[in-house]
Amino acid sequence: MKALEGIRILDFTHVQSGPTCTQLLAWFGADVIKVERPGVGDATRKQLMDVPDADSLYFTMLNHNKRSIELNSKNETGKQVLTRLIEECDVLVENFAPGALDRMGFSWERIQEINSRIVMASIKGFGPGKYEDCKVYENVAQCAGGSASTTGFRDGPPLVTGAQIGDSGTGLHLALGIVTALFQREKSGKGQKVTCAMQDSVLNLARVKLRDQQRLASGPLKEYSQFGEGIPFGEATPRAGNDSGGGQPGRIVKCKGWEQDPNAYTYFIIQAAVWEKVCDVIGKPEWKTEDGFAKPADRLDKLNVIFEAIEQWTMTMSKFEVMDTCNPHDIPVGPILSLKEISEDQGLFDTGTMVRVDHPERGEYLSVGCPIKLSDSSVEVTRSPLLGEHTSQVLEDVLGYDGEALQQVLDSGAVGQVKR
Ligand SMILES: CC(C)(COP(=O)(O)OP(=O)(O)OC[C@H]1O[C@@H](n2cnc3c(N)ncnc32)[C@H](O)[C@@H]1OP(=O)(O)O)[C@@H](O)C(=O)NCCC(=O)NCCS
Repeated sequence: MKALEGIRILDFTHVQSGPTCTQLLAWFGADVIKVERPGVGDATRKQLMDVPDADSLYFTMLNHNKRSIELNSKNETGKQVLTRLIEECDVLVENFAPGALDRMGFSWERIQEINSRIVMASIKGFGPGKYEDCKVYENVAQCAGGSASTTGFRDGPPLVTGAQIGDSGTGLHLALGIVTALFQREKSGKGQKVTCAMQDSVLNLARVKLRDQQRLASGPLKEYSQFGEGIPFGEATPRAGNDSGGGQPGRIVKCKGWEQDPNAYTYFIIQAAVWEKVCDVIGKPEWKTEDGFAKPADRLDKLNVIFEAIEQWTMTMSKFEVMDTCNPHDIPVGPILSLKEISEDQGLFDTGTMVRVDHPERGEYLSVGCPIKLSDSSVEVTRSPLLGEHTSQVLEDVLGYDGEALQQVLDSGAVGQVKR
């Protein structure tokens, strides 16, 4: 049995944020029915295409384990079919531009009239307020949620991160909101509206930076490299380069081969608890007792010297050898893994975190599987649906259309060219 077996989801999502959420729910066993515009579908199907005439990896990697129905929700018959879907589903998930669902004639009030038990979940860029009508994409959210202003080096511009914390991060938040609302429905018998703003989700993930913003009122942030370098702090949490956020000095240092390999680096943290072991490992045993080095607070203005010494040592071996040497001493290090290395890591395939998926148009491709493991609800990743692949299946099996009623829907132009 799958955890969300029996839960049916009307997936009105597109691009990345919403599909991330519904893909997770599908992996946990929900029946996710993706509603797409006839003949067009989710725009990502044809974005960043790498194989001619095949759905892109952008689409396939975000829409596993779903069914696809083509449906024009602005066509009268299409609206009737959508109404039937709302009746039959437990959850409606959408991430259209603000107001789009209302313009289609499906306000939250109307949706509740159709099905009072439905959970309606929405992603928007911003919550209520002056920016609520804006269309928002990943990097806009990273900038508006406090991440970009705190990412990068102090003397460089703000940076966005490669991890899609705005889109996928918000999808993860929404998935939790949905299962929580379903849990409450068990007791209340009623659905409710769940909303996640991308700005809010990014801010939630940048929580420790807001912590630092408030600490500034009590003086400089001593664990930031700029403190040790004698550079004054301004009014806002600064960019801290690769400093670690937990109060223990940490940086990225070069390893053997860095001249050719852009990822021959490791993260290295000089946790106070293992300082003596760090000194021994890097060949500086005298620092264990030397004035100015022995105590954590005294080391703060010497971090450049200390990390130079660490780097001299890490440059003598590969990032994996650094890991193998430091781990037995509980010295926290983290090799900088490239996506190439990750995609060749058999251990990740063994746990299902990386998967190989077959696809009729593009053949086999790699994907990230479900990162959340439930001991009693296993996940088999299946390929994303072709556009409208399940239109007739959903109309007949889920909504019960047959005979003349079915023919009328097929002839109405609401569901595109049905594939049988
Ligand atoms: C992502 C986003 C910027 C894309 O904007 P967009 O490409 O212009 O797409 P929209 O959401 O505005 O939808 C375009 C139109 O298609 C219509 N549409 C979508 N599916 C349809 C269907 N099956 N049948 C008929 N019309 C459909 C919508 O109703 C909308 O029409 P309207 O403009 O008349 O209201 C926008 O959807 C958005 O801000 N979403 C919320 C935040 C978000 O999730 N952003 C990150 C995405 S990864």
